[in-house]
Amino acid sequence: MEENLTPSYIKTFDKDERALATEDLSVFYGGKVQKLFDASLQFKKNSITALIGASGSGKSTFLRSLNRMNDKVAKIDGKIIFHGLDVNKPDINVYELRKNIGMVFQRPNPFPKSIRENIVYALKANGKTDKNELDRIVEESLRAAALWDEVKDKLDKSALALSGGQQQRLCIARALAVQPEILLLDEPASALDPVSTSKLEDTLKQLRSEYTMIMVTHNMQQASRISDHTAFFHLGHVIEYNSTAEIFTNPKGQLTEDYIQGSFG
Ligand SMILES: Nc1ncnc2c1ncn2[C@@H]1O[C@H](COP(=O)(O)OP(=O)(O)O)[C@@H](O)[C@H]1O
Ligand SMILES: [Mg+2]
Repeated sequence: MEENLTPSYIKTFDKDERALATEDLSVFYGGKVQKLFDASLQFKKNSITALIGASGSGKSTFLRSLNRMNDKVAKIDGKIIFHGLDVNKPDINVYELRKNIGMVFQRPNPFPKSIRENIVYALKANGKTDKNELDRIVEESLRAAALWDEVKDKLDKSALALSGGQQQRLCIARALAVQPEILLLDEPASALDPVSTSKLEDTLKQLRSEYTMIMVTHNMQQASRISDHTAFFHLGHVIEYNSTAEIFTNPKGQLTEDYIQGSFG
């Protein structure tokens, strides 16, 4: 059966409300196999946007393209507008871009180093050496990630000795240390137990006052609990994008409704 992949609703925001926007973003793996089709999404500042959809629907493909993590494996057409600039252009410094648009992955991946070193690593690589300043950033980042109280007495112990949930919050602290504006999160809680997941969700909700977050999740309850807006992906197409409340209680598209009912049912 032919499915109707025309978007049923795509929310937009005024220019000054947008932290990031894509225009007709398409991704071709190996240069030719298209897995994302003309995605045009605007992300609101200081909010959490959830990307939902079945496995293989293109959520990670879209997310990883936003800070040019797909460059080596795919051709990416279309625009990614950040501060009025198209950061999908070839002459963009992707390392600078990734300082502004950080990423947290599915599995916590701390460096096999101390907790402190995990946070200061990128700063040192960028030439920051002042010990007082580094100490201040370590504390600020760990506080922001709601991890400080749990680790303040063992900053020089190995990060690998932390629990999975603590490691994931450390990865958030590490991402925050370089002061990004946007945080991309790809199923950040999928490897965590319910208690750690709930702590991570609290952390993300607190970060919303200062950061814009875009989060892939396959957990519908999680999307409805913590996100402000939700985009539904299907077969590489964005089908519907709206406030989370509307998506979950009053979806406009049949595909969205089917997916949400199936996932909750
Ligand atoms: N590096 C890659 N090379 C080729 N195909 C890929 C690559 N990454 C993902 N894909 C394909 O792109 C499609 C979308 O995958 P993905 O974005 O990972 O989906 P999701 O995150 O929604 O589960 C899938 O068909 C997947 O097999
Ligand atoms: Mg994925």
